[in-house]
Amino acid sequence: MEIDLFTLFPDSFAWFEAQRHVENAVAAGHRLRYVNYREHTPLRAGQVDDTPFGGGAGMVLRVDVVEAALRAVYGIDPAALPARRRVIALTPAGRLLDDALVDELSHEPALTLLCGRYEGFDQRIVEHFCSDEVSIGRYVLAGGELAAMVVCDTVLRKLPGSLGDERSAVEESFSVVLEGGPEYPHYTRPAEHRGWRVPEVLLSGHHARIREWRLEQSRARAGERSLP
Ligand code: 6GU
Repeated sequence: MEIDLFTLFPDSFAWFEAQRHVENAVAAGHRLRYVNYREHTPLRAGQVDDTPFGGGAGMVLRVDVVEAALRAVYGIDPAALPARRRVIALTPAGRLLDDALVDELSHEPALTLLCGRYEGFDQRIVEHFCSDEVSIGRYVLAGGELAAMVVCDTVLRKLPGSLGDERSAVEESFSVVLEGGPEYPHYTRPAEHRGWRVPEVLLSGHHARIREWRLEQSRARAGERSLP
């Protein structure tokens, strides 16, 4: 998969890039590319944003600036882009990211993620250049970069080769295997700590019983937390 990230702060992804599963994904041939809007702005002094029409606090990312950046990278009218690839605006009001959406995105050959800053995007960017608007939760981040990392993290770890053990991504929270429920609890050594014992079934070696217990635990958690 090719992921293009448009941002004013490409350096903020350095930590993310160093994560093992991201390194693995890149080694397996997947690609992350960063584009700084500021390097493509047609405006003077690197201007990328402006005050909102109608008044109000903050600054809004300009449509002409985003158009120039998209055009420079893809060489076509960016209004034609959403018909060709997923272009995702990261905004607090977007479609909530969940395992189903992550799964959907992980099957795309290419993604474009647009990070906003300040008060966000001029709406014409979202309307004309984007196929999707995605949010990672109902709260407001100072910028889309953290959200973009969340999208990349969740998508990349679904790709073959990014996790050490391919089973990890199959049987985990919210997966079909667990009926869309949260993951069961995990335990490791020691089998007892301060009198707190690991459930006996996990030490039993009865794989069928263990599977059954884990599914029960997942269902119980789903009930407790009214999930999914
Ligand atoms: Cl995608 N962006 C921003 N700025 N805030 C958010 C978000 C995205 N998702 C939740 N909060």
